[in-house]
Amino acid sequence: MAGGRDERQPGAGPWYGIKWIVGGLGLLVVGFPLLAGGFGDVEAGRRKAEVCAPCHGADGNSTTPEVPSLAGQPPLYTYYQLLLFQQQQRVSAQMAPVVASLSRQDMQDLAAYYAVQTPAVPPPPRDPAKAEVGRRLVKAHYCDSCHAPGLVGQKHIPRLAGQHYAYLVTQLRAYKTQQRTDLDGTMTIVAQPLSNEEIEALAEYLASLPAGAGLPRPHTAR
Ligand code: HEC
Ligand code: HEC
Repeated sequence: MAGGRDERQPGAGPWYGIKWIVGGLGLLVVGFPLLAGGFGDVEAGRRKAEVCAPCHGADGNSTTPEVPSLAGQPPLYTYYQLLLFQQQQRVSAQMAPVVASLSRQDMQDLAAYYAVQTPAVPPPPRDPAKAEVGRRLVKAHYCDSCHAPGLVGQKHIPRLAGQHYAYLVTQLRAYKTQQRTDLDGTMTIVAQPLSNEEIEALAEYLASLPAGAGLPRPHTAR
């Protein structure tokens, strides 16, 4: 039964299989040799991030709806996405030239720098009723079981709280249509049942959610 779906557990749904995948990835992450003895140099990252500032903002808070904010992201998440861009597994015309010449040390320094930046306070939802639908969908789909309470992210899993609406909608659609290749395949599975309206409601809620206000942010504890 390992890795499979246990038909005898009503309500376990597809999560039964996913938990095995996540558990396996957790081991992989813990065993990652490059992570031994700290992760990146924040000051070196600050200098290296100067070329990123025109798009992502000097402190990692982007003001362009299509460009993600990086402030407060778990360093492992940023690091792995930079690797995915460099290996052209995650495709972006804007990111491809930027990552081409980055070393792994550069990526870790950049990830460390953005992880300790403070996420900007997001705007209130434009449509509170839609945001409430989104809040219920987060509960129904257990998004916070991976993205952590408050959707602040952890390990290789990104912060969603306070991320831009337009960016979130694009990414959820891209997972659903399999135009974005994800690290371990879980987001492709998660996005399949979501309708367009549900994706928009989720993004409405997540984009208005303050990141870090009174919430534990385990990845910044060093
Ligand atoms: C020309 C604008 C531009 C520049 C310069 C740029 N980026 Fe990006 N970046 C983007 C866009 C646009 C995306 C979203 C790509 C997508 O849609 O998948 C992105 C995505 C990312 C992501 C993924 C974030 C997430 O939430 O998944 C990371 C990490 C990232 N950039 C880091 C960097 C770093 C580090 C630098 C500097 C070394 C940099 N970027 C420079 C435009 C830029
Ligand atoms: C089983 C664990 C798991 C669950 C449940 C989960 N996610 Fe994710 N999510 C991930 C992982 C891992 C990633 C990074 C994937 C990658 O490499 O692209 C991710 C990435 C994302 C991203 C991309 C963010 C960015 O900055 O680019 C969005 C958006 C997202 N998830 C939304 C959701 C929503 C909404 C739900 C609930 C409907 C959800 N996730 C449930 C594990 C999960």
